[in-house]
Amino acid sequence: MGMRPTIIPVASGKGGVGKSVFAASLAILLGRMGFDTIAVDLDLGGSNLHTYFGLPNTHPGVGDYLKQRLAELNQLLVDTPFPKVRFLPGDGKTPFMANIPKGQRFQLLDDIQHLPARFVVVDLGAGSSINTMNFFGLANDSIVITTLDTPALMNAMVFLRNFLFANILTLAAEDPILHRKLLDLYRRPASRKNLTAQEAYQLVSGHNPSLGRTIRSRCQRFAPRLVLNMGDAAADLAVASKIRSSLQKNLSMDVSILGMIFYDDQVRRLVRKNRVVMGEEPPPLYQACLKPIVERIVSGERAPDPETLRREAERIGKQYGCC
Ligand SMILES: Nc1ncnc2c1ncn2[C@@H]1O[C@H](COP(=O)(O)OP(=O)(O)OP(=O)(O)O)[C@@H](O)[C@H]1O
Ligand SMILES: [Mg+2]
Repeated sequence: MGMRPTIIPVASGKGGVGKSVFAASLAILLGRMGFDTIAVDLDLGGSNLHTYFGLPNTHPGVGDYLKQRLAELNQLLVDTPFPKVRFLPGDGKTPFMANIPKGQRFQLLDDIQHLPARFVVVDLGAGSSINTMNFFGLANDSIVITTLDTPALMNAMVFLRNFLFANILTLAAEDPILHRKLLDLYRRPASRKNLTAQEAYQLVSGHNPSLGRTIRSRCQRFAPRLVLNMGDAAADLAVASKIRSSLQKNLSMDVSILGMIFYDDQVRRLVRKNRVVMGEEPPPLYQACLKPIVERIVSGERAPDPETLRREAERIGKQYGCC
């Protein structure tokens, strides 16, 4: 058996922020760089990633695999018009109806980790369903994409909070008294200050030191990466530092910013005409914004400091006349 792929889950707190366009474009650019890549549609119940590859919705997918075990996951891979990029459809012929039972979910997570590729890009459903949070946990440095509107930014932060506490609570389940206590504090009324990760770690450590160490070390491995989409100007990146420090303070989470993608009307128009965004003539601005982001993903380099990101966005903005 060869090396396991690098999994890149892409989530968002809010829907419609450009997650699927980004996931498909990322897969296509990785393929273009020579990496065998598989794009997986795990937005079960609302899967439409096929459209961003120009594929019909006629292939069986993860939905059929879960419902009827029609085939091995590998056998469901579909070729795309893009070199080195294959696609694993989502709902397929079985629109997703209920939550995936735990056993099946774990099997699916395991199968995804064994897909035959160098990179596996996973498009997730918006929001904090248990499925999405499990799939997001396929990597420690999964990606959250958000626009710069306050509701989208808030939802992205809420998603990360839900993800972190879902993990803390799952790990704490072996101690039912502690679990209950944490759950009560986590759900305390909105009028009270939110429970911070630091407070949760302290509570667990005080109650059960060994479990406290396990939870802290497991959860502090999460270092999600943020992509800011549909920016108007390099100055929009100012919000990035605020998000980072707020997540550090409240979730003790080291979130890095992978980059900003400008609003590109050509993207919207191509989608509206049902044309493939990364097809024969990819929108130059969108592509220029993606380039440094994809390079960072491939190199595994930690995201640059805010000033470097701002200069990068300013250079791209000037080149394409958008700031
Ligand atoms: N950088 C951009 N500039 C302009 N329009 C964009 C950009 N990124 C995405 N869009 C537009 O946003 C819309 C939603 O994109 P997409 O389908 O990728 O969102 P999504 O987050 O996957 O939504 P859902 O939650 O429904 O799955 C599309 O019409 C797309 O053209
Ligand atoms: Mg989508």
